[in-house]
Amino acid sequence: MKTTIYFIELSEHENLKEYEKFIKFVSPKRQLQIDKFRFDIDKKLSLFSDLFVRYSACKALDLKNSDLLFDKNTYGKPYLVGYPDFHYNISHTRYAIAIGLSETPIGVDIEKNKAADLQIAERFFSKGEQQYILSDNQKQETLFYEIWTKKEAYIKWLGKGLAIPLNTFDVTDTQIGRMFNTIEINDYLVSVCNREEFNYMEFLQLNENQVSILLSEFIENT
Ligand SMILES: CC(C)(COP(=O)(O)OP(=O)(O)OC[C@H]1O[C@@H](n2cnc3c(N)ncnc32)[C@H](O)[C@@H]1OP(=O)(O)O)[C@@H](O)C(=O)NCCC(=O)NCCS
Repeated sequence: MKTTIYFIELSEHENLKEYEKFIKFVSPKRQLQIDKFRFDIDKKLSLFSDLFVRYSACKALDLKNSDLLFDKNTYGKPYLVGYPDFHYNISHTRYAIAIGLSETPIGVDIEKNKAADLQIAERFFSKGEQQYILSDNQKQETLFYEIWTKKEAYIKWLGKGLAIPLNTFDVTDTQIGRMFNTIEINDYLVSVCNREEFNYMEFLQLNENQVSILLSEFIENT
């Protein structure tokens, strides 16, 4: 399996009917989490990303949804039990999801390219990363989110989340820097962290309707 990144934008109100028929195909724990979200968009981001991973795992490994068992490492990184060569990572933000699938560990982060609080950079970014942001006055906010998403993708690749202090590594360092790909798409930045030697990554954009059709077919046939 090569490295594939899916980028999916979701609208706030469409497809709530789909949501009802999808929900029983995710774990009872996920169902509870979804139920607790106050806003429909958060329910949908969580449900669609979870079910899309299930669909992808079943397709890649020729399994049924009921065969899938997920667990989390000590720091909360989820993985598919029993398939050590199937790696995935998800990230969601309003109103989009990024999902990375690979045969080696992967970390993915998506952020909306909006007004940036540059004080965060002073607090959490290394000197090299701060200099990188200042290197182009016209693009400071985009560069900020490039660094932010790379840092998140890196700690998600490692699987240790915030147990790794954000200012203890530098994503502009030439050694670490080779592990990233960053894609600017619509109003979003998506960064992917994967093994150093990988040289081919497929990036696929799907819209809500396409995903909804895929997931409907999946639940009918699984
Ligand atoms: C939890 C964390 C791993 C990512 O959080 P996030 O950026 O808010 O959320 P994302 O949508 O990108 O990722 C959430 C998904 O990552 C996965 N995940 C959770 N813990 C993980 C870990 N330790 N490693 C990798 N992936 C993890 C889960 O699939 C989760 O989705 P789910 O909750 O629907 O199951 C953690 O890095 C965090 O809290 N980061 C915020 C730190 C920050 O403030 N950064 C700003 C400056 S860089």
